[in-house]
Amino acid sequence: MTVEADLIMDRCDDLATISSQPDRLERVHLSPEHKAANALVAEWMTDAGLSTWQDPAGNQCGRLEGAEPGLPALLIGSHIDTVPDAGRYDGMLGVLLAIAVAKRIKKSGMRLPFALEVVAFSDEEGTRFGMALLGSRALAGTWDDAWWNLRDKDGISLAEAFQDFGLDPARLPGAFRRRENYVGYLETHIEQGPILEDAERQLAIVTSIAGARRYGITITGHAGHAGGTPYASRRDALVGASELVVAIERISLQTHTIGTVGRLQAFPGGVNVIPGRVELSLDLRAEFDADRDHALDLVWAAAKEICERRKLRLEKKELYRADAVLCDPELMAAVGRGIRATGDVAPMAFWSRAGHDGMAVVNLTRIAMLFLRCRGGISHHPDENVKKSDVAAALTAFEAAVLAVADTYPAAGAEA
Ligand code: HGY
Ligand code: MN
Ligand code: MN
Repeated sequence: MTVEADLIMDRCDDLATISSQPDRLERVHLSPEHKAANALVAEWMTDAGLSTWQDPAGNQCGRLEGAEPGLPALLIGSHIDTVPDAGRYDGMLGVLLAIAVAKRIKKSGMRLPFALEVVAFSDEEGTRFGMALLGSRALAGTWDDAWWNLRDKDGISLAEAFQDFGLDPARLPGAFRRRENYVGYLETHIEQGPILEDAERQLAIVTSIAGARRYGITITGHAGHAGGTPYASRRDALVGASELVVAIERISLQTHTIGTVGRLQAFPGGVNVIPGRVELSLDLRAEFDADRDHALDLVWAAAKEICERRKLRLEKKELYRADAVLCDPELMAAVGRGIRATGDVAPMAFWSRAGHDGMAVVNLTRIAMLFLRCRGGISHHPDENVKKSDVAAALTAFEAAVLAVADTYPAAGAEA
């Protein structure tokens, strides 16, 4: 057991060496690093006994047939792209646990009533193009052709990036899976929060995934001389943006939602120049979409008041939206059976504050997630870490959850 957990953690270390930055982990959609990571994951999938392919969206996939060839598949996996300066377990651990489960089932000779498909999604974070879930949205068939014109920080469009990667945008529909070919989707992921650690528990059932909306906001005032311009006549975009950032935190706390400004840049950026323009981001999420949208209304009202008072102009553009999704009760029960197989007789269950590919996959098939503890709840940071014993427990639970789904799934050949 710990040999497998060791191998999984070693492989997370291997993937962490595939980065576009020499001193930190960053691996984005359709990059040379993505290509190298797909190749390494394909090797591991082959080693596990899976047939492998890269789909037309750049997702790396593997398949283990069930009792008969061509059966509908239970999809298991996670993502292998990262945020800037990332940790090495967010996404990658779920892909490697899925490969390890498939390898166990292959080695056991068990003939499941469904196939197993393992997927390493290409773009859960949206780091490069601002739109997240591009790999899983392709898999689910919920693609918007307007996305082809999304551009990265170097002005490269998504369509150009596809071609540079060796993919043909015209063939993307080949990645759209068919509903009847899937039994469901199970993902194991680190919690990315402190709930499990505070409760001194290893694993949990995820009940739902928070919905998020992300914006690009521009606040425009008037640049001027830092010395000669009297305060009474200043239209300082950065002071206005700063008031808005603090208002976002206040409103989030008041409405029990989660608002974050992850990026903020002042222009023209001279130390002796009053900022005439500020560009900032907003990520706002909540367990329920109505709460999220209500908090957003309050944020825009605050922004309007600040800008009117300071004679500033506000522009905002929604970059991304994924509504909250519920996990499937039957699959959650299977995850619960999996956790009980580790000796935890009363599994915890709570909603995910982090977003996941399941928000897209739910448009194709039912979903569920298994959470495992991460140290200090830290994630989206190089200090992200997990205990080997928790990885071993997650492997046991994940395999048992897959077998629990098989127990309740009609025998091969029966009407599903
Ligand atoms: O933003 C999120 O919650 C996820 O890590 N992409
Ligand atoms: Mn993440
Ligand atoms: Mn993730």
